[in-house]
Amino acid sequence: MERPTWAPPGIDISVPSVSRIYDYYLGGSHNFEADREAARRAMVAFPGMPKIMQANRAFLRRAVRHAVGQGVTQFLDIGSGIPTFGNVHEIARAADPAARVVYVDHDPVAVAHSRAVLDGDARSAVVAADLREPRAVLGSDEVTGLLDLDRPVALLLVAVLHFTRDEDDPWGAVAELRDALAPGSLLVLTHASTDTGPMKPEEGEAVEGVYRRAGSPLLMRSRAEVARFFDGFEMVEPGLVSMPAWRPEPVTGGSAHPDRPADDPAMHVGFAGVGRKP
Ligand SMILES: C[S@@+](CC[C@H](N)C(=O)[O-])C[C@H]1O[C@@H](n2cnc3c(N)ncnc32)[C@H](O)[C@@H]1O
Repeated sequence: MERPTWAPPGIDISVPSVSRIYDYYLGGSHNFEADREAARRAMVAFPGMPKIMQANRAFLRRAVRHAVGQGVTQFLDIGSGIPTFGNVHEIARAADPAARVVYVDHDPVAVAHSRAVLDGDARSAVVAADLREPRAVLGSDEVTGLLDLDRPVALLLVAVLHFTRDEDDPWGAVAELRDALAPGSLLVLTHASTDTGPMKPEEGEAVEGVYRRAGSPLLMRSRAEVARFFDGFEMVEPGLVSMPAWRPEPVTGGSAHPDRPADDPAMHVGFAGVGRKP
């Protein structure tokens, strides 16, 4: 089996990882055959999987621009993944060069690549930590050194909460993060669900099964379960909607530019929302 030099020592490249499966869907090159095989199996269950991921990234970029437009220029991006086209610090900086970003992921490949991309960047950092341990995230040198928690922060939990089990109480983790943030902070979230879009419940179960066999939970949650993550936040218009329906930007030239992917029914699978802490 190929083992590229960028693979951090100690990782088993025969075991798929959600960050590398996602990288594959997005057309990236930081994935192994085990990741591609898992992605292909998920695409048998629901062929539109890559479209969902494109819609997710496009939403993320719109939400980051929205945050900067609201004067929120500090970002805590948990479950940030492998750097790809249009990373949070690049999008935020294009809108405000002073923007600060802390990336957090528990996947060693995502962390290693983020470190490489951010090398020498004084206003961005990456933390190897787990969303389910908010205190470790909040207490990390990178967060305490780079972010001023007395001022608003945009907390990005984009396509990550569906990788947590109910018994890990992800709602409790989000509440703990929320309580550490200043008024005016934003929660930016997407979550897998079959309550919106054309994925049938049985297709959703098949996709969940692929991830389970790949060693990770993936939970399609209901609208009500996703909405609970916003407890203590006021929903920003248009509320909890499918990803392309959240403040769409016009597609210019009918192009397939990754920032403005042409709409596709599969892109409406899953919820997106932004909440503001009062
Ligand atoms: C699908 S990717 C999303 C990447 C990025 N947020 C985006 O939306 O483009 C999910 C990422 O969450 C990370 N992740 C999953 N569970 C996590 C946890 N409990 N703590 C930290 N990161 C986690 C995975 O390693 C992966 O990189």
